Formats: sequence, structure tokens, C-alpha cells
Amino acid sequence: MYDVNTACEAFKKLLEEQQARIANMNTEKTDFSKKACVTIGVVDGDGIGPIITSEAARVLKKLLADEVEKGTIVIKQIQGLTIENRLAQGKPIPDDVLAEIKTCDVILKGPTTTPHGGTLESANVTMRRELDLYANVRPVSIPEQGIDWMFYRENTEGEYVLGSRGLDLPGMAVDFKVTTDLGTRRIVRAAFEYAKNNGKTHMSVVTKANIMKKTDGKFTTIAHEIAAEYPEITVEDYYIDIMTANLLKEGLREKFQVFVMPNLYGDIITDEAAQLQGGVGTAGSANIGDRYAMFEAIHGSAPRMIERGMGQYANPDSILKAAAMLLRHICRFDAAAKLEKAINDCPLTVKSDGSAATCAQYADKLMEML
Ligand code: IPM
Ligand code: MG
Repeated sequence: MYDVNTACEAFKKLLEEQQARIANMNTEKTDFSKKACVTIGVVDGDGIGPIITSEAARVLKKLLADEVEKGTIVIKQIQGLTIENRLAQGKPIPDDVLAEIKTCDVILKGPTTTPHGGTLESANVTMRRELDLYANVRPVSIPEQGIDWMFYRENTEGEYVLGSRGLDLPGMAVDFKVTTDLGTRRIVRAAFEYAKNNGKTHMSVVTKANIMKKTDGKFTTIAHEIAAEYPEITVEDYYIDIMTANLLKEGLREKFQVFVMPNLYGDIITDEAAQLQGGVGTAGSANIGDRYAMFEAIHGSAPRMIERGMGQYANPDSILKAAAMLLRHICRFDAAAKLEKAINDCPLTVKSDGSAATCAQYADKLMEML
């Protein structure tokens, strides 16, 4: 608990840290089409994580077997990102695990448990910050309803960057939201580049700039500055509240193509969008930075499935979709297309009640189809 003067001191330190972060923002991008050797790290996580990631790793190894043999791809298993180890070490990502992760170019990550309360930060939030994974990219597609959306969620700033560093004062608590010029420019540019390279002509900039005037105001202003470089793309501003309604509005929602938005709004609206597609378990998610990228299932570690002894019935769909996104990111387009086709065409299903195939049976079938 702070008094006002101590709180001001703490706030000053936070501002200085943020200025240092801006000064260290990396802008040199890895070009995977030219990189002689790409290292893929597989991090298994907790609960159903090891079950689904080991199947996804098996599929990746099969798809990339020739390259692994030639030495142009290395696939590394990284242990230790378990809730037991994280709690024992008191670190959201233990130092040795983080060091291993940083020897890779891209990471395929299983779900990790975040304890309620306490002080242990989410491993996801830590990884996004440590690897500067500023773009959270989440596709949602429902072809039969004319929906083909791509969400670009800012992933390192906003409400998250100081989310566990708020201040407690007598009778009140204060949290902070941080939006930087560089941080906004890079996420907005990533969204416009995606639109341009994929023939998209509509961009929605989603904020609450009528209320969060400084931070979201900056986000909107910068988005429009960058939009001027992409005259072929129509840009519309929406507030997050009405956009959550619009996603449910048939006749309107079909026109949306690419969305770009600050962190917390993106967190919320991508769950809504994934639910429309069939549930959060049906979506893969990419966390992309200039140097590193991490691909993950967007669901949790399902501890109750493990308690019930039903872990082998965990559905690997979301992590497999993430693996396909990983392959595209490292420019292995043929392998990505093969995997996506196999996922779409696979006749087996996996159900958490155990009434269909197991995760391993599903992966076996998929491997036959590759
Ligand atoms: C997500 C999740 C995370 C987030 C949690 C696990 C920290 O909800 O990836 O959307 O809030 O970003
Ligand atoms: Mg979320």
C-alpha cells in the first residue's frame, strides 16, 4: 500500500522503464525465405499441453523430415514450462527455459496454466514481452456465413504492459495503460501489409478513443497516418462496444475483413469471434515479432480433463492450426497447405467426452493423409 508520494515515485520508475523499452524496440525483421537454418522450439506447457503438442510435433517432424535431415530445420523440445516448475522457481518463465526459447526462431507452445491470485504473471504475457511479440494475429473464418476475418491485436502494450504493476493506495487502486508511437506504428503497419498482400480492401480500426482519449486517441491518429500510404484500402473507425455488437449483425458483419486494435479490446473481441466460428478451441493464434514468433492453441490447459483421466481425448485442432500458421510464417508454404488440407479433410473427430477418436488416433490419421 502506497501513500501518494511513494506512488508518484513508483510511477516515475514505470515511466522511465517504458522509455527504456521504446529505446530498445527492435526493427530488424528476420527474412525466413533467406535463413539457412530455422530452429523450431516445441514447448509443451501444462495439463493437456504435452498431449496435444507432442502430436503436433510428430506431424511437424513428418512434414519437415527432409529439411530436418538436410539441417535446414531443427526441431527442439523445450521442457520446464510447467506450472510446478514455474511456481517452484517463482518465475512465469524460468530463466533456463527462457534462454532455451531464445535459441529458437519460432515456438510452438501448448497452453500454460495461470494461477488465480498470487503474483505469478501469465507465461503468455511474459513470453510476448520478453520476445517482443507485438502482433497477435487471429483468423476467424465461417465460409458458409460469408465471414472471413483477420484480427491484428496489439500484443505488448496497452493494458497489459503494466498489468501486474498497478498501484494500491488507501481506499483506491490504479492501473495503467501505455500506448507508444513505435508500438502503434508497427502493429498498424503489420495489419495494412497483411491486407495489401492478401487482396483485402477494408480495415476496421477498433478503439474506445471517445473515452481513452490519450492512448486510444494516439492509436487512431497513427492508424490514419499509416492508412494514407494504402489508398486502395477503405478504413473505418469503430468503438469497441459497437463492434462487439456488429460482429453479431448479419448483413453488416460480412463486410469486415481486417481489424486492428489495442491489446485488451483484441483479447475480448477475438474470443467473441472464435465463439462464432465454433468455440475458442477451434482457433489458432500467432504472436509475431520482428525476431521471434510464437504459435499457440488459444484454449487453456483443461486441468479438469486431466483430473478425469480423459487427457488423451484432448482435441489437437487448435494447436495443429497454429502449427500451420508457423509453417507459413517460416515460408514453408507447401507444408502449411498440406497440413491445412489434411485438417479440413480428416474424417476423424476428437471429443472431450471420449466418444470419438483419441488425440493420437487423430494425429495418426492426419499423418497418413499428408
Ligand atoms: C489470450 C489469453 C491471454 C490474454 C491470457 C492467457 C493471459 O486470454 O491469449 O487471449 O489475455 O492475452
Ligand atoms: Mg484471451
